[in-house]
Amino acid sequence: MPQRSVVEAPNPLREGIRIKNSPEPCVMVIFGATGDLTHRKLLPALYNLALEHPLPAGFSVVAFARRPYSTEEYRQQALESINQYSRQKPVNPQVWENFAAGIHYLQADFNDPKGYEKLNNLLNLLDQERGTGGNRIFYLSTPPSQYPEIIQRLGAAGLNRSRKGWTRIIVEKPFGHDLGSAKELNRQVGKVFKEDQVYRIDHYLGKETVQNILVFRLANGIFEPVWNRRYIDHVQITVAENIGLEGRSGYFEEAGAIRDMVQNHVMQLLSLVAMEPPITFDANSVRDEKVKVLHALQPLVGQDVVTNIIRAQYGPGWLSTGQQVIGYRQEPGVSPHSTTETYLALKVFIDSWRWAGVPFYLRTGKHLPKRVTEIAIQFKQAPLMLFKRSEAYGQVEPNVLTLRIQPDEGISLKFGAKVPGTEMQIRSVNMDFFYGSSGFREQPEAYERLLLDCMLGDSTLFTRRDEVEAAWTFIQGILDSWKNEPPETIQTYESGSWGPQAADEFIWRDGRRWRRP
Ligand code: BG6
Repeated sequence: MPQRSVVEAPNPLREGIRIKNSPEPCVMVIFGATGDLTHRKLLPALYNLALEHPLPAGFSVVAFARRPYSTEEYRQQALESINQYSRQKPVNPQVWENFAAGIHYLQADFNDPKGYEKLNNLLNLLDQERGTGGNRIFYLSTPPSQYPEIIQRLGAAGLNRSRKGWTRIIVEKPFGHDLGSAKELNRQVGKVFKEDQVYRIDHYLGKETVQNILVFRLANGIFEPVWNRRYIDHVQITVAENIGLEGRSGYFEEAGAIRDMVQNHVMQLLSLVAMEPPITFDANSVRDEKVKVLHALQPLVGQDVVTNIIRAQYGPGWLSTGQQVIGYRQEPGVSPHSTTETYLALKVFIDSWRWAGVPFYLRTGKHLPKRVTEIAIQFKQAPLMLFKRSEAYGQVEPNVLTLRIQPDEGISLKFGAKVPGTEMQIRSVNMDFFYGSSGFREQPEAYERLLLDCMLGDSTLFTRRDEVEAAWTFIQGILDSWKNEPPETIQTYESGSWGPQAADEFIWRDGRRWRRP
């Protein structure tokens, strides 16, 4: 028989970010360009975009900051950061040279009108020299206290609109400190920019596996029919970190886990898991459905805050890396009497036809045993009468579908299988899908995707004005209740453990237990 030659089928999943349209040439102005975020995330993301999906010819960066650097010095620092933090290493000299030619440093104070005049001139010059066509993105990467000043000055200098081309603004988190300040910031942004020019970042939405939540749910016929209160017992969302403050004690003392992680990242994951299918995949349809989930959240106020939330702070301990660490209150820059939480567990309910009565257990914390983000959907038990008289009865565990967001991105389904042999014994086994070993290319960083989407004018993966306010409305109820709570109620957990004992008891009371991811 003639041998058939084996032709490897092309694997579309290896192709990475696919862009329907290339972005138009544009300039990105980064306010706070000497800061940590710019060096660790933004510059490496832009470089990777240049490397893998050619940025539009002429793409330029204006680094706007107060420190006295020359463009040459700044380019050198940018190169060092990219060498250190880029996903793709070593730096390709040819790509770097082209990319660096588009970087300009502009030294100015954020409150100095002359700085904005200089910016205007530079942008006009770049339009002429690099063909950027009046297309601008302003990226606010400064401490949030500077946002109102910069926004107002951009407006006063007429930079909120260009005569030709488009203008967009990206606002980094945290977006407000509470509901009042978030609304105020929205008002200030809204006075200067139209909502379709505003891109509020939550970098979790740029993660490929977060976007896959919707694909998994809605592109497959078998999951959506069981995605509701009839079949699901409860949902657990875990965003665990093994790191601590990373030198950000000043910010974290004010924020705590509730503002740092829950108001944004955890709420986004919850919305994507719980939302109804949107009518199309455009920015507003998707965000309309997410907002409905946030509006349907049962408010946690008064006594519910005490029974449905556990807040805790890490004490001293050992991390899984073998490193001995001090407790939160001993950290430099943290008050020895601080009541800021580094761990939070919440039980929330969504008052909707689909989810009525299904608890969503959410938890996040620092100095936990490992970095892991996952969503676990636990299904109701099957009727087990069949096994009642056999040893297997006590061995049957509920089915759990786990969406692993990071690391080891993938999906796993736990189910019971018969142990081979003459006796009826059942053991739980997993059916696993790993992105890493499935022929996918390395996943792009969240910021790569988000910056590209902004250049393309697609705001689906950014937070809309009403969405951010809806999330804050829920969080504000909790913050108000905490104001009346005596500070002693904060628990402590050993660094390197899975959180305080109270968090285990809190879920045991419901006859359930936390997963150990
Ligand atoms: C940031 C928080 O938004 O997210 C940090 O401010 C946190 O405290 C980080 O460490 C976690 O992001 P990632 O992508 O590492 O899960």
